[in-house]
Amino acid sequence: MTRGPEGAVVPPPAVPAGRGAVSSVIRESLAYSARENMVSFAGGLPAPELFDADGIRASYDRVLSRAAGRVLQYSTTDGDPDLRTALAERLTGRGLPAEPGSLLVTSGAQQALWLLAGTLLEPGDVVIVENPTYLAALQCFQHAGAKVVAAPTDRHGIVVEALDDLVTRHQPKLLYLVPNFQNPTGHTLPVGRRQELARLAATRGFWIVEDDPYGELSFHRSAPDWIRMDPVAADRVLLVGSLSKVIAPGLRLGWLLAPEPVRDLCVRAKQALDLHTSAVDQAAVADYLANNDLDAHLKRVRAEYLRRCTSLLAGLPDALPAGSTWNVPEGGMFVWARLPAGHDAVALLPHTVEQGVVYVPGAPFFATDADPRTMRLSFTTHEPDVITEGLARMARAFDQIQQPEVNE
Ligand SMILES: Cc1ncc(COP(=O)(O)O)c(C=O)c1O
Repeated sequence: MTRGPEGAVVPPPAVPAGRGAVSSVIRESLAYSARENMVSFAGGLPAPELFDADGIRASYDRVLSRAAGRVLQYSTTDGDPDLRTALAERLTGRGLPAEPGSLLVTSGAQQALWLLAGTLLEPGDVVIVENPTYLAALQCFQHAGAKVVAAPTDRHGIVVEALDDLVTRHQPKLLYLVPNFQNPTGHTLPVGRRQELARLAATRGFWIVEDDPYGELSFHRSAPDWIRMDPVAADRVLLVGSLSKVIAPGLRLGWLLAPEPVRDLCVRAKQALDLHTSAVDQAAVADYLANNDLDAHLKRVRAEYLRRCTSLLAGLPDALPAGSTWNVPEGGMFVWARLPAGHDAVALLPHTVEQGVVYVPGAPFFATDADPRTMRLSFTTHEPDVITEGLARMARAFDQIQQPEVNE
């Protein structure tokens, strides 16, 4: 029993969760984004004007006219059978033969990550992550009490040679990867490294969580094969996908493809969490996939994102201080930039905000050894002319700041 300052009995304290202090930098950036006339490169949002609202509305109309009693009723935890069939067909079409029964529909990919962390990890278990990585995955692992170990990355993603040694030292239970157009770096893991990782997982006995919300946003050619497609590691790769970036994130629809024992554990955990993902949303999206050409839609989205990415890349040399570097993504939503020595992207943010442009500092995405010079720039939500204006504002902000005199 706990007593407060006046001697009254008070409820027990809540358990503090994860990385509130660090992620507040991101919350702050997103709050700035909402200000009037701000040009925001901060969000990780799909372009709203590209949502197929008419097509989605028609699907809701159809399922509510034809099957209201079913789609407004409680449903099964595994997910709508029609949606799982449609998702399995898309996977099969992309070269990964999948059965609807191997899929679990989740409330966004985020829920799949939470379920996997909750079912596979015990406090103290080691999870290896790319450094930097997707912040909300780190939060899932930390909530599960796991010890997160950061693996070094280069401009292609995780460095496999370094991983070998980390596996020996830490005996990880799980390796978490975003191999395609990664968040936050935009990196894409080359085929050779995927094969080496599959071999390593097979010989050293750990799970790979392959999180792929961006794979269908490739600008030029298809993204490389999933690690899950390598027969060497098919029984230990847990593939997570999402409809957020290909249809709309407000639907909150994702999926998990996992071997039966893991899928079953996740189904049981999901039962306790939310019983099932919204039945009407699943039914509407199953109808949408049956009656629309998602690939044609994605072709338009990809072309538009490429146009916006190209305009961001074209403007960066004049916007960022001399000596800055950045990657050229092959798809997805993000450019990852690094300012010259002595700069701190967190400290600089208020100055760019004053000029009316906001980005996300890169530091919070690092599990350890945060690089203060990094920033994530999303190119998806603005037309090229707005991107150009945002970059002009950024240039003004950097011009006004006294440049640090640091020799590397
Ligand atoms: C790497 C990564 N995984 C998962 C998610 C969550 O996606 P969803 O909207 O499907 O929950 C995101 C969202 O931005 C992401 O970047």
